[in-house]
Amino acid sequence: MNTKKKQTTNEIIMAAPMDGYTDLAFRKALATNATYRPDRMFTEFVNVEAIIRDIYSAERILKHEKLSIPTSAQLFGKNPTSFAQAIPKVLDLGYSGIDINMGCGARKIVTNGEGAGLIENYDLCKQIIEGSSEAINKWIKENDHEQSSIKFSVKTRLGINSNIGVEWTKFLDQFKLDFITIHGRTYKQGYSGSSNWDRIAQIANLVSTPIIGNGDITNITDAQEKLRKHNLYGVMIGRNYRSFFADINEKTPHRTRQKPKPGSDSDPLTFNSVRKTMLDYLTFHENLMAEYFKSSEIAFISTRKVLLGFMKGCKNTKSIKNQLMKAESYAKAKLMLAMRFKDQ
Ligand SMILES: Cc1cc2nc3c(=O)[nH]c(=O)nc-3n(C[C@H](O)[C@H](O)[C@H](O)COP(=O)(O)O)c2cc1C
Repeated sequence: MNTKKKQTTNEIIMAAPMDGYTDLAFRKALATNATYRPDRMFTEFVNVEAIIRDIYSAERILKHEKLSIPTSAQLFGKNPTSFAQAIPKVLDLGYSGIDINMGCGARKIVTNGEGAGLIENYDLCKQIIEGSSEAINKWIKENDHEQSSIKFSVKTRLGINSNIGVEWTKFLDQFKLDFITIHGRTYKQGYSGSSNWDRIAQIANLVSTPIIGNGDITNITDAQEKLRKHNLYGVMIGRNYRSFFADINEKTPHRTRQKPKPGSDSDPLTFNSVRKTMLDYLTFHENLMAEYFKSSEIAFISTRKVLLGFMKGCKNTKSIKNQLMKAESYAKAKLMLAMRFKDQ
């Protein structure tokens, strides 16, 4: 729970929750290979009703191992009782945070009054947040954990149809959450236009809850610049997750290594800089996640888009991308990656 004051000297950069991407295999690859380690990562969003009913898909999403990067489980739904029932089950798995999704922009979810559909539903959100907070505190007490060991947060947007970010975040501020992540767009905007960082900064100045800004960050240097320029507690990177493994901006001071030599394995612009990450990710996926799919082939196919994301912006990857999109098994893809490595 909220034990931290805003620390503007700290550099907090988180890896965003992404449906279809941030499963245990992805998180393990991140914890194993990141050259810039995020301060927190998240599961894909998972429905609280599926958790309390022990639905298989929820089991897959919540599959967890304690890794060196703290991880929050992200929950969505609209029934406060279901959140309270799901939370102890999730915390029993070893997660160090609960994040409530109040920002998902999938039409089906929003029209069902969940995700971004919760924005401005003040009474219901109060019940969900207060009930979840109670459930977390109860679990902490019963399991003899430190109060600060479980982070409780909300991820949201600036509004549904219009930008009511100030009023909405001021409402969320009363609950003393550990942090609130704001994607600087409304639901109506989808991914159009650009994330409104000035509005995120304005909101951060008006509330006492630490604010994590999100939207359109291109690389680690950009993240650091946005963090400082807007005087935020932290920032979050989604679609450009590749930056954590091999940052495209060569000026970036990495936390765990020296500046790479151009053309070397660690040069962020080359395919080799993410090759090991991709191989590890495929191995983790095959070993940990494949059992949740109808067949090994279908499991592999679900990894293709993630593999493409790892190579975003890498030079000379057109042919390997084409080959990987045609590969039909973990083994073939791994062989291609290994052979390609020899060619580089
Ligand atoms: C494929 C995909 C899946 C996503 N899934 C989730 C999710 O499960 N939960 C969530 O809160 N946001 C989700 N998001 C939104 C991201 O977390 C993030 O807020 C958004 O992409 C903006 O950040 P970015 O510009 O750095 O990508 C998803 C985004 C994408 C592209």
